[in-house]
Amino acid sequence: MNAEPTIRLSAIERSFTQGSVTARVLKGIDLAVRPGELTLIMGPSGSGKSTLLAAASGLLRPSAGRVEVLGTELWALDAGAIDRFRLEHCGFVFQGFNLFAALTAFEQVVYPLGFSGITGREAAAAAAEALDAVGLTKRAHLYPAALSGGEKQRVAIARALAKRPRLLFADEPTSALDKTNGEAVVALLKEAAHGRGTTVLCVSHDPRLIAHADRVLRIEDGLVTSDERPDPAKPILH
Ligand SMILES: Nc1ncnc2c1ncn2[C@@H]1O[C@H](COP(=O)(O)OP(=O)(O)O)[C@@H](O)[C@H]1O
Ligand SMILES: [Mg+2]
Repeated sequence: MNAEPTIRLSAIERSFTQGSVTARVLKGIDLAVRPGELTLIMGPSGSGKSTLLAAASGLLRPSAGRVEVLGTELWALDAGAIDRFRLEHCGFVFQGFNLFAALTAFEQVVYPLGFSGITGREAAAAAAEALDAVGLTKRAHLYPAALSGGEKQRVAIARALAKRPRLLFADEPTSALDKTNGEAVVALLKEAAHGRGTTVLCVSHDPRLIAHADRVLRIEDGLVTSDERPDPAKPILH
């Protein structure tokens, strides 16, 4: 995959101060993420993975450094513009699924499309297509209580992908799932990258994901310590 990077992080730092104690969580992260592949960031719990994902996706302002996404310097925008950027271009999948108990699978996917200005028949068609892509057409009428963990995460993926975002951010998407469901979920993330050209950036401490990723980075102690492609036939491109 030779495409230009869609996410460029330069010298990203982030500290958290609580009382008189300041913890430096990210200490200068440089990273370029390309579209059309599943990039996985691994690291132990507390190593700053969620902080890094949040900085890259406009959810948490870094203390220093530059985040460039789709050619836009994200943190130079005002808060409203960052929100609009996220709405237009970014999908999110989290460990906890974040589904609404009172909505069916179809409603979970179709309602948020309204925030992107997609409504009516167009929204219904996009939601149906996204649910079909994750294999849930026959379960679309069910509420979360009637769905398994794996099915809930597939709904969350359909919700994230229905608006066809250029970027998909996933934070520990498989941590609440068993092996089979975890693999189904990571296969869908990979399909989004390979099939749609989406930039998929996933952070996790789950080593089961490594085999499925196109590229695996490790962060430790606030810095990137390795950057590899599990398939040796694919060279690392800088
Ligand atoms: N909002 C916050 N306030 C204070 N400390 C935080 C905050 N968010 C994260 N941290 C701290 O930063 C470190 C990294 O957190 P995080 O990015 O969630 O790690 P990971 O996702 O790798 O488990 C942890 O020590 C955590 O306690
Ligand atoms: Mg985390």
